[in-house]
Amino acid sequence: MGDAAGFGKGLSRRDLLKVSLLGAAALTLPFERTVSAKTVSEIAPSKLPRPFTVPFATPPVLAPVRSTGTTDYYEIVQKPGVAEILPGVRSPIFGYNGIAPGPTIKVAQGRETVVRQINALPGRHPKLRYEPWTSTHLHGSASLPEFDGYASDITRPGQYKDYRYPNTQPARTLWYHDHGLHHTGENVYMGLAGLYLLTDPVEQALPLPTGRYDVPLVLQDKIFARDGSFLWDDNGHSGLWGDVILVNGRPWPVMKVERRKYRFRVLNGSVARGFRYRLSTGDPITVIGCDGGLMTAPQQVSELRHGMAERYEIVIDFAKYRVGQRVVLQNLGVPNSRDYDTTRNIMAFDVASEATDTSNNTVPPVLNPGAVAMDLTPAMSKRTRRLVVSRTGGEWVINDMTWESVVRSRYEAVVADPGPGDVEIWEIVNASGGWFHPVHVHLVDFKILDRNGRPPRPEERGPKDTVYVGENETVRIIMRFEHQVGRYMVHCHNLPHEDHDMMTQFRVGPPGAGHDPITTAPALPYTSSTAAL
Ligand code: C2O
Ligand code: CU
Repeated sequence: MGDAAGFGKGLSRRDLLKVSLLGAAALTLPFERTVSAKTVSEIAPSKLPRPFTVPFATPPVLAPVRSTGTTDYYEIVQKPGVAEILPGVRSPIFGYNGIAPGPTIKVAQGRETVVRQINALPGRHPKLRYEPWTSTHLHGSASLPEFDGYASDITRPGQYKDYRYPNTQPARTLWYHDHGLHHTGENVYMGLAGLYLLTDPVEQALPLPTGRYDVPLVLQDKIFARDGSFLWDDNGHSGLWGDVILVNGRPWPVMKVERRKYRFRVLNGSVARGFRYRLSTGDPITVIGCDGGLMTAPQQVSELRHGMAERYEIVIDFAKYRVGQRVVLQNLGVPNSRDYDTTRNIMAFDVASEATDTSNNTVPPVLNPGAVAMDLTPAMSKRTRRLVVSRTGGEWVINDMTWESVVRSRYEAVVADPGPGDVEIWEIVNASGGWFHPVHVHLVDFKILDRNGRPPRPEERGPKDTVYVGENETVRIIMRFEHQVGRYMVHCHNLPHEDHDMMTQFRVGPPGAGHDPITTAPALPYTSSTAAL
């Protein structure tokens, strides 16, 4: 399909919709075109930039406020900000340090970090009127229960909390994001998400692209209201699907690249949108890592499916293209994620010059033979549990549990109670044809054994912490419950599903095991007498 209905090409999509509602011009368009030509943003289409006109940028790296021999201390203020995302349009956001995505934290394995999170958000969301309490989850970290962003461990506006992270796991792309009770969706959508990159000697010994050739891509979608603010419409808690695609906070950006390999760390930070990537050249994409870090061996794919909260690390070799060529990262879409003409494009790479540095320009055939989760076999499993994800009585549930049922049990009810060090297989069942659920298990890295009895997709053959459970699928994952004991969440990462209320918990160890996630390190008032970090 062409993009005659694309923005900036005369007749706008919204105009087309209006025309098609009048009936006349609709006859000249194929049916699915009139459907996909609908948009959700209310802002004038003329305010949206043409694809690949906004320059690409990456979030700034955060410097520690202080370091000791073992520990780096960081301070982040969660506060309102104004971002110019659409040229000339001011959009109110909530940002870590007032920016979205938040600043990137970079850590070497073996160093501890303490991150002070200060909630300086207003007492009420300006439009939605809820109180923006927060809880910060470092997604991909085996943190202690009290530092894991337990949804009910909230920090209210005017309070702060110091989170401590061990950073003992293998190198990986993590992200920190809000997890506040019942408002995770709105808070993340408003901008409370950022990257946290952990490196280790295994990764550093590899000749993979590094430095300015190691580039994060945080993908999110937005709906813009007439006044430039983000419009929240979660379709009755089903999901929010925006028509504007942002990469690192910029709409359909264009990045200048050299004729060599680049490593991209791709995070799908959307509320509910799944992506399926393809390069406009049709060339394969090399996948080198998943949520839990580098794969054992790279995988070549012609398409890559990406659910919410998953991270995929890919290498694209621009040496095959000539200077002046444009390569577009396209989105083929996934079922039950609403697509628009505008969501077919993500960003473009303009091959602008020869390589200025040709070191670290190799993807070796063996990347990470020691990825712990990848060694697990069904023979090692102590037990198999079944987790059924469904919609029951208007609520999203896991084995008929909701977070509300966990709260009512005084946080004692659990969906699973593995012993410390136990290996288990979880069989996650989605009997619906109407929606998919990216299921995230906190604390652990897992291996995907199979999907409806068939091998996982090539891009998923690495350590994972979030798995795309597609329509009518049963996915089996295997993991070892190590690093910590205590209670941790398991939930769908479609954020309206999570908030309403497809989230429960498991406990590593016997009842009472581990630090209490809420009472061990509660948030404190942030005042002029609060001691500096
Ligand atoms: Cu990324 Cu429990 O979340
Ligand atoms: Cu879901």
